[in-house]
Formats: sequence, C-alpha cells, structure tokens
Amino acid sequence: MKVDICKNYEEIAKKATSIVIQEIKNNPKLKIGLATGSSPLGLYENLIEAYQKNEVSFSEVTSYNLDEYIGISRSHPQSYYSFMFENLFKHIDIKSKNIHLPNNDLTQIDHIANDYNQILHANPLDLQILGIGSNGHIGFNEPGTPLDSETFIVTLDEQTRKDNSRFFKNLDDVPKYAITMGIKNIMDSKKIILIASGKEKAKAIHQMIKGKITNKFPASILQLHPDCTIILDIDSASQLA
Ligand code: GLP
Repeated sequence: MKVDICKNYEEIAKKATSIVIQEIKNNPKLKIGLATGSSPLGLYENLIEAYQKNEVSFSEVTSYNLDEYIGISRSHPQSYYSFMFENLFKHIDIKSKNIHLPNNDLTQIDHIANDYNQILHANPLDLQILGIGSNGHIGFNEPGTPLDSETFIVTLDEQTRKDNSRFFKNLDDVPKYAITMGIKNIMDSKKIILIASGKEKAKAIHQMIKGKITNKFPASILQLHPDCTIILDIDSASQLA
C-alpha cells in the first residue's frame, strides 16, 4: 500500500488525475472501474478539463461502475447512473457502448448480479478508483461481506444510509438495497487508487491502513493488494502518525 498525503483536496484531485491520464496514455484502451460519492468529484472535474484541452481522450476507454442503488430508477437524480452522466460521461468522448453500470431493474433482479459479474470476468480491470465509507465499505461491500465476494445484491447498513441521506430529501428516501461489485472483483483490478479527504474519514483511514485485515472492515483487505495507492489530505491522514 502506497500512501500519499496531500495538503488539501485540490492536490488529491490533481494527483489522482495525473495517474489516470498517465494510465490512459500508456494504454488508450484502459478498462477503468469508477466510483461515485463526493471523493472522486475533483478527479472527474479535472478529467473533463483535460479532455476539453485535448490532453486526453476517452474514445477507447471502457468504464465499469462499482455499484448502483436498487429501488430507484436510473433516471432518478440520485442514481449512480445519473451521477456518472452528470459529473463525467456527458462531458467527455467516452462511447456509450463502452460505459457499464450495474443494471438495477427490479424485473431482472434474479440475474443482474450474475450478468454484471460476467462482464467483469470478461473485462479484467486495469485501474479501479475507490472512495471509502465511514464504516470501511468499498463499493457497497458492507462490514461482514466475505472477502472473496463477487457482484451481489446488498442490504445497505443503517450507517451507510445515514451517511448518504445528505443526497436525498430524508432518510426514508435512501434506498435500502444496492448492487455492488464484490471485494474480489475490486481486488482483481491490476491497480487501485483510493481517495479520501476530511476529518470524518480519519478513523476509517487509520483502520484501513493500520488495522487488522478483517471482513469486519472491508477496506482493510486493500493492504494485500500489490498496487494500491491511497491518496489523502492532512485531515483524513490525521490519525495515522
Ligand atoms: C458510497 C459509495 C462508495 C463511496 C462511499 C464514500 O456509499 N457506494 O462507493 O466510496 O459512499 O462516499 P463519499 O466519497 O461521498 O464520502
């Protein structure tokens, strides 16, 4: 695990952006796993800017999102589908056939996890972008998820629903279920970048990096990944010393 401590969120976003752009330059057909949430927003803004300045093209890149809510439609403003189009896809030259998000159609609930897993098996990821939940989740792999899990339907933790209620009118509106890549799918990516900022993440970051490797704290498994970079600001790194 490589840990990079930046002076602020802007620097985190800059560092993450330069890694992603370098990876695309090395391999224009990069298979990239993408995350939602506040953490990668600066990275996405910078990637859009770099594309507009002709510094990078996504025309051959394929993307695979980590997770999606179940119980709201893709057109809901808080679906991860909407999030990705609003904050990245509609601003860059990625081809729509190269964009993959887990299907959350309730009428297909019996096979959507397996379908997405097949896609991931057929397209091993080169790079996965991650954030971290305050309870140590990565994607929506909540505490207790087996470390060898593959794409599945998850019941969200109450803590996760509370954390994410800031994006909804109230807690009752936050979906109770989601579909997520499993921990094994994430660990199978050749390279991983995890981004975290702010004091609220400090305890989780400490546990991820210094704690014991356990499925009670899913992000701790990243200690075993051969090429994982954690990009932090001073606040999220404040409990590491
Ligand atoms: C969500 C997502 C995760 C994300 C995490 C942290 O629940 N499913 O993929 O990493 O929350 O979000 P944020 O970056 O907004 O703190």
